Amino acid sequence: MPIVTYILRDGERREIGVPAGTSVMEAAIRNNVRGIDAECGGCLSCATCHVYVDASSTAELPSPDESELELLEGVAAERRPESRLSCQLVMTPAMSGLVVQIVQKQG
Ligand code: FES
Repeated sequence: MPIVTYILRDGERREIGVPAGTSVMEAAIRNNVRGIDAECGGCLSCATCHVYVDASSTAELPSPDESELELLEGVAAERRPESRLSCQLVMTPAMSGLVVQIVQKQG
């Protein structure tokens, strides 16, 4: 099963097996990873599932589409080149090794 490491706001790291087809956001909610609010439930309208892809990440990620890029313009925390919306990161085997940092604020 693909592995995702979440770096929490306090620096704690949580490594979680995420089934292919499940988003990084959904896995966070199911596993009580704090700091991803996901107010819209993954329908790409809230931007409260913002994460930073960590430099140590070895995952191959799909590029963000236009809708994700547009929504990233309104995130509450600083937007960075490595910013992604975790509801749009749907796991595949090639994405195993993904490391994401939870941003300091979502809304
Ligand atoms: S959960 Fe709302 S945009 Fe990702």
